[in-house]
Amino acid sequence: MATAADKDHGTVQLLKGQKALVTGANSGIGPATAVALGRAGADVVVNYVVGADEAEKVVAQIKDFGVRAYAHEADVSDEDQVVAMVARMVEEFGTIDIMVANAGLQRDANVTEMTLAQWQKVIDVNLTGQFLCAREAAKEFIRRGVVEEVSRSAGKIVCMSSVHQIIPWSGHVNYASSKGGVGMMMQTLAQELAPHRIRVNAIAPGAIRTPINRDAWSTPEAEADLLRLIPYRRVGDPDDIANAVVAVASDLLDYVVGTTLYVDGGMTLFPGFATGG
Ligand code: BGC
Repeated sequence: MATAADKDHGTVQLLKGQKALVTGANSGIGPATAVALGRAGADVVVNYVVGADEAEKVVAQIKDFGVRAYAHEADVSDEDQVVAMVARMVEEFGTIDIMVANAGLQRDANVTEMTLAQWQKVIDVNLTGQFLCAREAAKEFIRRGVVEEVSRSAGKIVCMSSVHQIIPWSGHVNYASSKGGVGMMMQTLAQELAPHRIRVNAIAPGAIRTPINRDAWSTPEAEADLLRLIPYRRVGDPDDIANAVVAVASDLLDYVVGTTLYVDGGMTLFPGFATGG
């Protein structure tokens, strides 16, 4: 039988003894991220709002590494639910070291067709949800302070942004605005919290093969179109993002504060200008 050590794929246990929470960890980029944190030695809370079965599968995978994990249902846009989620984590795991504010969604429409409900839902989950999660994590980070044996930092907040933090996106004004907001929220929180030795950073994925953008890669024609926007000429995998989250949350990147790491195969390099201009 494989031991936990056999299953760590040789990954250095960069996050040994740390406690991480990943929102939206039942689908898309979330499961790979939660599993990668567990593989790196962290205990992990797997948040979900729908998809309890998927969340439980992620929990089982994480426990296989010999660390602790449990699933917690909460809507990140609901203040009381976020407060309760972090309070339970502190009760069960003792504290929190890493908050990955990952939960996000799209409700696409051209502006003239976009309802206020579509606008509001995306802002509530993608931006307000990240604010609430960051706020609750920051309170616990400040209360506890730095524990040298665990990490050089008093805590890490990783905001899941998008290339649409800086690339305008026709037909998605709610989503692009939410991610533009995430970028400024992240920088402002980073500035405010750095003196507490809290590091706030963002990961900005490009096109990652997940259900959120299935239409963009599910047929050969769609994928060919998409690849024209990606100089590196491959669609990303959830593991590309998961590995970036582990790196930015670890002490290897302890001096990285208030940065957006684009993990996008070059999508933000204005590939339309590869010729012409
Ligand atoms: C969106 C995807 C899109 C990608 C690149 C992501 O933030 O959620 O739907 O494919 O950006 O445009």
